[in-house]
Amino acid sequence: MALRPILHFPDPRLRKKALEIKEVDDNIRQLADDMLETMYEAPGIGLAATQINVQKRLVVIDVSEDKSSPLIFINPEIVEQHGEREHEEGCLSVPESYEMVTRADTVCVRALDREGKQFDLEAEELLATCIQHEIDHLDGKLFVDYLSNLKRQRIKKRLEKQLKQKN
Ligand code: NI
Repeated sequence: MALRPILHFPDPRLRKKALEIKEVDDNIRQLADDMLETMYEAPGIGLAATQINVQKRLVVIDVSEDKSSPLIFINPEIVEQHGEREHEEGCLSVPESYEMVTRADTVCVRALDREGKQFDLEAEELLATCIQHEIDHLDGKLFVDYLSNLKRQRIKKRLEKQLKQKN
């Protein structure tokens, strides 16, 4: 297993659209394991392959308190959604920013598991928010896109400044 560096907004590579995974093989399982390790280490509750500069439709999530429920979604798709709910979101690619975002309240997601088998999962609350947030990443979309232009520019400036200080 290996930790992978996480891209930070406004890195343009976060805007790339991830491609469908044609075959779930050992390389994909290794990638999923690396992503889980990277997510836990960060620490975070969700990570999309796009965030580690891999353009494949793969998402890992664990919203449990004790990091005991890793979920892997390959080629995830929202097949049903209901209601609306506002929830505070953050993102490993947008450090130290937490903002309210409105999304569907409950979703049904269809995906392949680590064996390549299709499953459907009904999700609500934090998990529903997280699934929608991570699938957005695969389409090059970030939670800051839901904020006002002013707020997004403020976050962008702060992160660019931090990046300059590091280099
Ligand atoms: Ni994120």
